[in-house]
Amino acid sequence: MQHPLKHHLTLTLLALTSLSHFPPASPLTPCRTLCGTTAINYPFSIDDGCGAPQYRSMLNCTGTDLFFMTTSGRYKVQSIDYNKQTMVVYDPAMSTCSILQPHHDFVMTDVESVVIPPSSDTIFALLNCSIDSPVLNRYKNLCFNFSGHSCDELYGGCNAFRVFRSFTNSSPPCCFTGYDTVKYMSMNILDCSHYTSFINVDGLKGIGPADWVYGMKLSYAVPDTGCGRCTRSGGACGYDTETGVMMCLCSTSMNATRECGSNGDIGGAQKLALRTKFHAFALVVGALIYFVIFI
Ligand SMILES: *[C@@H]1O[C@H](CO)[C@@H](O)[C@H](O)[C@H]1NC(C)=O
Ligand SMILES: *[C@@H]1O[C@H](CO)[C@@H](O)[C@H](O)[C@H]1NC(C)=O
Ligand SMILES: *[C@@H]1O[C@H](CO)[C@@H](O)[C@H](O)[C@H]1NC(C)=O
Ligand SMILES: *[C@@H]1O[C@H](CO)[C@@H](O)[C@H](O)[C@H]1NC(C)=O
Repeated sequence: MQHPLKHHLTLTLLALTSLSHFPPASPLTPCRTLCGTTAINYPFSIDDGCGAPQYRSMLNCTGTDLFFMTTSGRYKVQSIDYNKQTMVVYDPAMSTCSILQPHHDFVMTDVESVVIPPSSDTIFALLNCSIDSPVLNRYKNLCFNFSGHSCDELYGGCNAFRVFRSFTNSSPPCCFTGYDTVKYMSMNILDCSHYTSFINVDGLKGIGPADWVYGMKLSYAVPDTGCGRCTRSGGACGYDTETGVMMCLCSTSMNATRECGSNGDIGGAQKLALRTKFHAFALVVGALIYFVIFI
């Protein structure tokens, strides 16, 4: 003889029990996903222990602005394109067509120059080079003809660069080149007093330097560590700050090895305790209801 209420009770208990196996609806991970209006997604992060370990400490969020930290300075992040895997940065201390600034180098950390170097869509113009510069002599093949543009155009068409001609009344040498040149040779070795860099170079044929977009486009790769699985389970990808081993951060009090709500969690002690408590609670409630209804 099956009592309809008893049947209902069993279903309720079953539902309660299985509920406790799911992660909370919207876990609060310790990783911020926004800096100002810029989305911060894997592999990047602005919180230590979040994102991919290779990209640790690369970004700094001041609350409204995002900065890319390099050995030679803090460069403002203009945009991140997560589909094309590029990041456009702008060095506020760099000389451009409209402003001449003190000489300095562009130096990335060793890790940065491997995981997020400037793309081939970024060209460096070395300016005011001496005639002894290696790029005019031994390494002259590092300079290329950039869409028919000449040094004269830069020295003549840019307010900031006119000063380079004023001493000799002629244009000092310059060189259009790629990141590898400035990576291996400092401006002192190159014997050029300034550089500038610009992006979107495919579209610059026949366009004067006053209308170029100055800055750098960096190109990065996303490490394949199974981050998608963690994200789908409601977590954020991160890593152990001591070992660098990947972790799935599920909430401020819970980390998992691969995905939230799975077995084999690390830091899962609290979770286990929580689950056990919930089971006990469900049992007590069930017993109470049983007593009220059937006894
Ligand atoms: C989870 O991992 C993050 C990042 O390593 C760490 O800051 C946090 O303390 C960990 N939380 C727990 C509960 O282990
Ligand atoms: C971000 O930059 C500020 C100012 O330079 C510095 O005080 C802070 O420690 C940096 N934060 C991180 C996480 O690097
Ligand atoms: C251009 O380079 C020369 C050295 O080759 C340097 O003396 C001069 O100051 C530079 N011009 C500017 C405006 O920096
Ligand atoms: C650069 O290429 C243009 C055609 O695109 C050509 O007219 C010009 O002579 C070349 N300049 C040099 C220095 O090779």
